[in-house]
Order: sequence, then structure tokens, then C-alpha cells
Amino acid sequence: MLQAQLTIDPAFRVAPVRRRTFGTFVEHLGRCVYTGIYEPGHPTADEDGFRGDVLALTRELGVSTVRYPGGNFVSGYRWEDGIGPRANRPRRLDLAWHSTETNEVGVDEFMRWTRLAGVEPMMAVNLGTRGVQEALDLLEYCNIRSGTALSDLRIANGSKDPHDVRMWCLGNEMDGPWQIGHKTAREYGRLAAETARAMRMIDPNLELVACGSSGSSMPTFGSWEATVLEETYDVVDHISCHAYYEEKDGDLGGFLACSTDMEHFIASVAATADHVGARLRSRKRIGISFDEWNIWYLSRFRSAEPPTDWPVAPPLLEDHYHLADAVALGGLLITLLRNSDRVLAASLAQLVNVIAPIMTEPGGRVWKQTTFHPFAQASRYASGDVLRVEPVSPMYDTAEFGEVPVLHAVATHDEDDETTTLFAVNRSTEEPVTLEIDARALGRDVVITSADTLTDPDVYARNTADAPDRVAPRANPDHRADPLRVVLPPVSWNVIRLGLR
Ligand code: AHR
Repeated sequence: MLQAQLTIDPAFRVAPVRRRTFGTFVEHLGRCVYTGIYEPGHPTADEDGFRGDVLALTRELGVSTVRYPGGNFVSGYRWEDGIGPRANRPRRLDLAWHSTETNEVGVDEFMRWTRLAGVEPMMAVNLGTRGVQEALDLLEYCNIRSGTALSDLRIANGSKDPHDVRMWCLGNEMDGPWQIGHKTAREYGRLAAETARAMRMIDPNLELVACGSSGSSMPTFGSWEATVLEETYDVVDHISCHAYYEEKDGDLGGFLACSTDMEHFIASVAATADHVGARLRSRKRIGISFDEWNIWYLSRFRSAEPPTDWPVAPPLLEDHYHLADAVALGGLLITLLRNSDRVLAASLAQLVNVIAPIMTEPGGRVWKQTTFHPFAQASRYASGDVLRVEPVSPMYDTAEFGEVPVLHAVATHDEDDETTTLFAVNRSTEEPVTLEIDARALGRDVVITSADTLTDPDVYARNTADAPDRVAPRANPDHRADPLRVVLPPVSWNVIRLGLR
């Protein structure tokens, strides 16, 4: 059996647990909006057409922010299409996803949904086909109380109070050649800076996110961030990171270690931002908004036949996640938490049906994918401060990342209720790990109050509408006190709670 040790000490504080780490994303893509959050006529739908079953699971997932309306979609979007009487709303071609957008749901409906879900909206503006003026118009429509053409239009459309959106993304993945209106870093940086400056004239306290790279393997990675930040440093708060991972060529061990790439991604972007800051003699520190991250079997999507028609809300990117995907996702969450000093916000892409923790049948059932569980547990139990833990762990070899530790972990500590939670992933595909925890710094009487594990003898086990709880966290009886010890099954996500005896 593999052995590992770690020490938990409240002195090793990284940063507060940030609620915005637990954000997600709703894009007008596939069935995320239509038959996802919105389906009039569904047995659980309210008078506005929002599915009650999806709302309930969104709350259970513990979502903090929701980014909207894209994604690639936003780079061709005219937000005015989605306001006012539904009968007057145009149907449009959505070039990003080769679909037809009916515009039945727009900004006012989405804001209503966020209030029902108890989440903070995070809006993206179109810097693909549009620019400064349209971003200003949307901001005026959303955030000005009354007395101007667009704020009064919002009121006339039924939203009396301003939507008060604090966080705004300046476009989406503008480094990607697939993006409508794709730009060079200099072109984008200038446009983002002009847009940010003008938006701040309306409200200097907005939080603005400049587009970073859409992946660490982009050919412009690093230089893109440097150029964009040279243009925008003084007027933005965050730079975005996007990353998707999948198991490739049957390399499960390598896949389970994908957070190694995310760790490196964050460190590289932070270093690049600080380098630009140093050159500008600035004391400001740019945060990271990891506003798209997930497991996505992108290679399958890319190899599918290109569509020839323009369907409404077709099933797109509907990945069905297995246990190993959930464990890999848990590892990514651990990495985001470990970097809470720099990653100030994150969005799991996406929320429902589209590479999502929540799946629906049109007109029918809803269920939790395997990936629902690590996210929901981390959102629920991470509180207080993030503590750095440095496990002494056996290593294993991967083709992509070289030697990596079998055990990946982070802890949080809440001084108020004296609870400490350890989140840990066992990446071994073969063996359990016996983990010894040195928690003396928390006091003599600390014990393991509960241990949950998400695992399955079949690493490719999935949940379905018929078997929604096939993969779900179960109590792990294999722990004891003095010394504190817990056995983590192979390929598992674990939540170990410590408290006073
Ligand atoms: O989340 C799916 C897509 O991935 C988004 O639309 C885009 O921003 C990214 O490439």
C-alpha cells in the first residue's frame, strides 16, 4: 500500500476562500439555455419558463457567479435582440455554433434567473463584431437606475431595478482563430483598453476582465498576455485563463495529473502580468479570472462531421462524465484553491447540458453528472482560509508531465467554527494511499469528524437518468485517530473533515 503524509497548520495561510472560485457559465450554446435553464411547459417550469429542477440543482451545486452569454457566442451577439416583447425578437444565425438563436432568452430573463438561483451575474461584451458603443449601451441598460434612454427601456421591459452587474468580460478568447472578429494581441489590447476606459466613465468601480489565452498550448501564449496587459494594465482588474482537459490515448495516469498544466498555466500568467507591471512601474497586481475550465472531450467534438443545417438548441458538447473525469476535475479544483492568492474568480464551463455537471432530458428528468460532486462538496465545505499543504507523496511517471505526486491536496480552515477540511485526490490507478495527517497545530483534540470518498471499482462508471446515483460520494469508514490516518482508494476524490473531539 502507498503511504503519504501531510501537515495542516493554520499558519500556512494562502488567502481567504473566495466564493467566486465556485462560478460557472451559461452560454447560448446547444441546450444550455433552451431545455437547460429555460423550458416553458416543462412540468417544473415557473411562469417565466425557468426549470425548477435545474434551479434546485444549481443551488445544490453551490454556484457563486454565472458568466453569460458566451463564450464564442458572444462575439457575434447583438444583445438588443434579446430584450422587449418576445414576439418582436429576431431569429438569428449563430455562427459560432452553427445554430439558430431565437432570442427567447436575453439579458432581462437571465438576470431574473440569477436572482432565483441566488448567483452573481458576470457579463461578457461582444468585442468580436462590435465595440465600445455597444458595450456602453449594454452597461447603461443593465446598471443605470433610470432617466436615460436605455435605462428607461429596461424599466419599460419590466426590470424596474438595475441589474447592477459588477464583473464584465471584455470579449471572449480573442486570441483564437475560431473566434468571430479574432484579433492580434495589439489590436485586441487597444480595443479592450478603449472599451474599459469608456465603461469606467460610467462606473469606475466595475471589475473588468481582459481576455488572456484560450489555452496554454496556444502559439501566442505568454506574448498574448504581455501585449494585452501592456495596453490594458491600468484599466482592467483581471486577465482570463481558459483550460480544458481530456484523457488522451488511454493515458489515464497522465489525465489524472492534468492539474499540473493548470498549475503551470497560473504561474506563467501571474509571472507575465507581474513582469508587465514591473516594466510599467505599477504597484497594481492583476488578478486571474479562470473563467473557463473543465474536462472537455474536445477531440471528439473536432472530429465530428461539420453541421450543414442551423438547428435551434441542438445537443452539442454533451459529454457524459465518468468517475475518472470527476477525479481529474477535483484535482483542478484543488489547484484553483491552492492558488487563491492569485485566482480571484473561476467559472466551470458550463452549467447544464453543455460539458456540464447537470444534465436534463427535454421535457423530462434532470440528473447529476459525476463531476457535480467534487464541485458541490468543495463549494459547500471550503470556508475560512485556504491553507497550503505540501504532501510527502509517492511519485509516478507521466508522458506529458514527467514525475507527479500520487496525492494532490489542499486544506481550508475556518477559525469561526473551528473546522478544517482537507480535499485530496488519489491519482494512483492501482493502489490505495494511506494518508497520515499531522494536525497538531490545530490542537490536541482534533479528530476526523467525517471522511467522504468519490470512487468506483470501474473508473469509467457514469451516472445516467436511470441510475443518477451510480457514482456519488460515500462515507469512507477507513480512517482512525492517533495518529490521524485515512485510506484513500485508487482514483478517488476525498473530503476529510477535522474538528474537535
Ligand atoms: O465552453 C465552450 C467554448 O469553449 C466557449 O464558447 C469558448 O469560449 C471556448 O472555446
